[in-house]
Formats: sequence, structure tokens, C-alpha cells
Amino acid sequence: MCGIIGINSNKPVSSTIISSLKKLEYRGYDSAGIATLSNGLINEVKSEGRVDNLEKNNLVQNMEGTIGIGHVRWATHGIPNSINAHPHSSQNVSVVHNGIIENSTILKKFLVGKGHKFKSQTDTEVIVHLITEHLKSENVINSIKKTLKLLHGSFALGIIFKEQPDLMIGARRGSPLAVGYGPGENYLGSDSYALKSMTNKISYLNDGEFCIIKKDQVEFYDEDGKKINKKVLELTSEDQKYDKGDYKHFMAKEIEEQPLTLKNGINEYIDNSNKNINIYNFPWKVEDITSIKLIGCGTAYHSCLMAKYWFEQLTSLDVNVDIASEFRYRNHRFKEKTLYIFVSQSGETADTYAALDLCKKNGMKTCSVVNIIESSIARDSEFVLPIHCGTEIGVASTKAFLGQILILYIFALKLGLLRKDIENEVFLQKLNDLKSLPELVEKTLKIDNKIQAISNTFNEAKGSMFLGRGFSYPIALEGALKLKELSYVHAEGYPAGEMKHGPLALIEEGMPVVVLAPRDSYYKKTISNMQEVIARGAKVLLITNKSKDEVLSENIWETIEVESANEDLLPFLLTIPLQKLAYYSALKKGYDIDKPRNLAKSVTVE
Ligand code: M6R
Repeated sequence: MCGIIGINSNKPVSSTIISSLKKLEYRGYDSAGIATLSNGLINEVKSEGRVDNLEKNNLVQNMEGTIGIGHVRWATHGIPNSINAHPHSSQNVSVVHNGIIENSTILKKFLVGKGHKFKSQTDTEVIVHLITEHLKSENVINSIKKTLKLLHGSFALGIIFKEQPDLMIGARRGSPLAVGYGPGENYLGSDSYALKSMTNKISYLNDGEFCIIKKDQVEFYDEDGKKINKKVLELTSEDQKYDKGDYKHFMAKEIEEQPLTLKNGINEYIDNSNKNINIYNFPWKVEDITSIKLIGCGTAYHSCLMAKYWFEQLTSLDVNVDIASEFRYRNHRFKEKTLYIFVSQSGETADTYAALDLCKKNGMKTCSVVNIIESSIARDSEFVLPIHCGTEIGVASTKAFLGQILILYIFALKLGLLRKDIENEVFLQKLNDLKSLPELVEKTLKIDNKIQAISNTFNEAKGSMFLGRGFSYPIALEGALKLKELSYVHAEGYPAGEMKHGPLALIEEGMPVVVLAPRDSYYKKTISNMQEVIARGAKVLLITNKSKDEVLSENIWETIEVESANEDLLPFLLTIPLQKLAYYSALKKGYDIDKPRNLAKSVTVE
């Protein structure tokens, strides 16, 4: 997704902007650009494709200027090409933008009527012309204030001005924006990750705020233009050196890191000496919570679905799950005793943030399960449960998924105990079982060879299905999502018991179908559903757990066995072969595994 960098310094900025843009590459993008000010002029260079293309451009290599802005663009309005790439500039002003200006068509009409000529198909260009128009009669600050008032939709902006060589403006509504502080220079970034190589001192803009960034000073203003003070936060250094190591892709590394993710989560929340779960500073009384609503997008939504099964099993709470983009526009009966839980790796997903904002505005109890604790969702939730899985770069979420479901499982266990919905003995047994989970995942990760061979069949198929019941159903959805986003193969996740109600019509000779049938309370039912698809010609890959009992079914194409564990923990283990299946499928096709086409790591537009 789009990313912004801005630097105001006393030394040349172009090469630092380029290297910082590379830090934003993990977000997924299709073009890049940079603008600096030198000799009283705005210099702008843009290119389609990777930041490398931009860097190779001679104009960039010789670019002067001690103030500048850079951008990676993920197309929303207008095709991905160098004209639509940001920055967009007039003679007076240059702008980079994340987000969507919803009223751009009306604003463009108005500006064209005033004689403005547009070069691109983007919504962003209206911002450039609005500021330029206002600059005819106003100073810089008033032009910005007037422009921001006219914009509908979401934005994070970085702006430089021909006539103001020592001043850069940042503004935020809906899309995140951070400010960094360095010696003799200050920065603007769409996330703190991009700024981490330059500084660990960060402030975040809240919705409606804007800032003036000078080399030696930053001023912040609220929506009404009133000067405000901001806290400077010190970021931890743990993520600063994250690289691929000896792995071919970040995704491969992140899959293998999962035992560590689980160990970190367990160490963080489980108190071995007191045989308890520590959830410090929980702001509500448990008796004030009678229901739970879990909200997320994509993989995070699948974590929510997974959690529903555990919360229903371990507590007597009412549990509902929602996709954030659906939740945010529906009519809700907000209930005082509902705890709203927002799940997000990045903590910046626009729809999830909007759902959180809606709940806050309605006075609800809000809690988030996030990886990035400095993120907007974490900062704006009343209570945060961090997942502690470290930086995740691969667009396809892997270790964050296991991290999310671990923390949600631990939370369900704790609430079950506090509410007296489960016996202390059951609690202790489950806590004890949990300790062996990292090792079980580690062993399950060794199933590589077989999966590599199997992945060919999925690549060659027109489509595939992933089936599971109960605890395995959300994992089937997640497996299908991983395969489609990485190897661009059509994949459907379905509850196995639902096949007869329509999807069975899709099954034809040789169609690959993954059946998740661990030896849990759903096992026999799932095996019956598996036989129904085999009878119709499906090529079934059965994923189950090790057992002394043979699987009672004929004509299974391939079987993969994960380690055995108590029923609650099997979903963690079933996830591993599905992640690997998607990885190897994409690897064989030579696709860009860490940055699949059309996708972004942090989805900051709705
Ligand atoms: O950062 P978030 O967890 O809020 O992101 C939500 C989804 O965009 C994300 O999980 C997406 O579905 C992944 N690409 C899946 O691998």
C-alpha cells in the first residue's frame, strides 16, 4: 500500500529518501517517486515499478536539495504508471498522499473551471491544485487549513513548497502518519518502521491534526489550527535489524520462526511459578462483560473465527465475529456489556481502525490484539494484548496468525477461569499442554519434502477446495487464502458439512481438495464428508494428526500427519502444512512470494 517519507535536513536528502522508500517496499506498491527543492525549484522524478527503477534514474542520482518527499504508490485512482505516481506537483507545491479523496471528481471540476490543468488520473492531484489556488491569496498555513477542510475521505499528506525551502507539512485524517526527530533534521513517515533506520524518537499525528516540520523544530496543530504539544516516544530497537538471513524469502523465515513466536507469547502471558495467566491492568470487571465481538480483516478475521470456537468452548460468553469492512457500515445495537476485540497484525488496517473508532464513539469497551504496539489501533484501544511475534515482512501473514490465535486462546482460557466457566483443574491441564506447543510446531515444520511434491498438483489445477469442520474450519479458510494470494490459484475454504448445499457441484475428476480431519470431536463427520468428495472424483490431500489408528477410508490421494496434541491445539499444527503448500506452489511458479501481485502488507485504504 502507499507509503510516505519526508526529510527536512541540513544535508542532501535524496539518497536517504530512496533507502527509506526501500524500507516501505514490504507494504506492496506499483510505482515510486521523489521530489526535492533546490535552487528555488521543485525537482520531481517518478517511475513505474520498484524503487530500484527510480534509484537507477540519472536524475535521482544527481538530485540536490536538503528537503524532500518520497512515495511508493499502490494504485486506487488511475493505472499504475509514472504519471500517476506521486509526488504530484505544481510550480509552487509538491504533494505525496496516502488514502482516498472521495470528492475528487467535484473538486476537479471546480478547479478545471478556474483554469487548472491536470496531468494525472489521480484523486491526489486535486490537493496540489487546491493548495496552489489558495496560495494565490493566503499564506502557507492558511492554504493548508482551507484545503484540508475541503477534502472528504482519508489522507496522510507530505507537502513541500517552492517558496518555503525550510518547511514541510504533514497532515492526517484516517491514514496513519508519524514524525521522527533526528540531529539537525526531522522526518515524516507513513509508519514508524520506515523511520526506524534514522531515529527511534517518534510522535504520531492523531486524526485531523497537521504539523510543520523544520530542520530543528516540529510544531503540531489540531483540527482548528490550535497549537498542541505531542509526546515523543522512544521506540524499541528489537525490529531494527530484521533481515532475511539465509532464507530465500521473508515468508520462509517467518514460517520457521513460529516456534519462537509461540515461545515469546507463552513466556509473556504465562506465569509458570504461579500456574496462572498474567493479563495485567485489564480495565474492566469480568462480570461487566457478557458478550464478545471479534473484528478483523483477511487472516486476522480468520483468527477471530478461530477464537470464536475457543471462547464458546471455554466460556459461557456470547461470541460474534465480524469482517471489519462490513461491520463499519451496518446498524448496530451496541451493548454496554460487550467487549469489542480488534485483531490486526499491522494495527493500521483502515477498515479495522474505522470499526474501532465507531465502537469508541458509541462508548464501547475496546481491546486490540496487535503486533505493532505503536500502531494506530493499539494506541486508540482502551486495552492492548500484544502478540510479540516481531516484524512480519511477507505480505502473506504467517507467524502473526499463530501469534494472534495463541493470544486469543490464552485470553479465552483466562476469562473461562475468572468467570468460573471452567474448573481450575481443566485450566491447569490446558495451561500445561500449551507449554509443549512450540516444540510440536517445530516438529511439524519438518514436513517439507512431501509438500513440495504435492504443490505441483495444486498449481496445475483450475481450482481447489479446503474443507474442515469445527476448529478446523477457520484453518481451512486460512489455507485457501494463503494459496490464492501467493500462487494465484483459485481456492475455496468451506465447512465440510456445507458441501452438499451447493459447492459439491464444483467437484470433478482430479480436482485437488484439502481435507482437514484431525482426530478431534469432529473427526468421524469430516471423514464422511471426505468420502463424499472422493466419490465424485476429488484428489484428496488429507491432513490429520499422528495416531495409532488407521484412517478408515479408501482412495485418499495423499496424507500428511502433523504432531498430536489436545484438541484445542491442533489448529496451530494444521496451519503449518497449509502455509508450506502455498509457499512451495508460489516458489515453483517463480512468483514474487513476499510481495504478491495487487496486494499490500498494510491496507491503509478501505
Ligand atoms: O494488518 P492486519 O492484520 O490488519 O491485516 C489484515 C489483512 O489485510 C491481512 O491479514 C491479509 O489478509 C494478509 N495478506 C493475509 O495473508
